[in-house]
Amino acid sequence: MEQKFTSFLLFCLITISICHADPEQLQDFCVANNPSTDTIINGFPCKPASSVVSDDFFFAGLSQEGNTNSRFGSSVTAGNVLSFPGLNTLGLAINRVDVAPGGVNPLHSHPRSSELVFVMKGNLLVGFISSANKFYSKVLGPGETFVIPKGLFHFQYNVGNSTATAITLFNSQLPGVVSTTRISFICVGAPTY
Ligand code: GLV
Ligand code: MN
Repeated sequence: MEQKFTSFLLFCLITISICHADPEQLQDFCVANNPSTDTIINGFPCKPASSVVSDDFFFAGLSQEGNTNSRFGSSVTAGNVLSFPGLNTLGLAINRVDVAPGGVNPLHSHPRSSELVFVMKGNLLVGFISSANKFYSKVLGPGETFVIPKGLFHFQYNVGNSTATAITLFNSQLPGVVSTTRISFICVGAPTY
């Protein structure tokens, strides 16, 4: 009985911790030391504070338009902890999305973050699907913002005549992407189809 209760308690704790946003930091900063996509537990080790410089808090990666000459006519440039180590433990990330006329940033979700879409130029139809399978959308122009709640599938479609650019903001240092256009199948045993 006691063992069952302990297992139940452990299950609840794990479930609660999975549902949380990035944890609060316990120091001013913790610039990531050589972040990589290898196995990690809740963030990266900190660079020694004595070797942290102003450039660790600077990121120019979003200053150039991405290449929209791609399959979907869109490009996403990611500013997360992997490309911008100063974000480590801060619970923030920022992307740049460029979409050619008629192009789309296809349906995807971020398991660890909500997303704010702020349009800088052009016109984007931004939409998401709720867990009640209801569709919410809006056409945004420059200076307008739409919010995508955490984990919900969403897209941005250029409904204008010129390239559209949006900045997207996240409450996670590594929001993660579940993409409907880049699924790889891991099969156990022979597939039956
Ligand atoms: C846009 O949806 C993004 O994830 O940057
Ligand atoms: Mn997104």
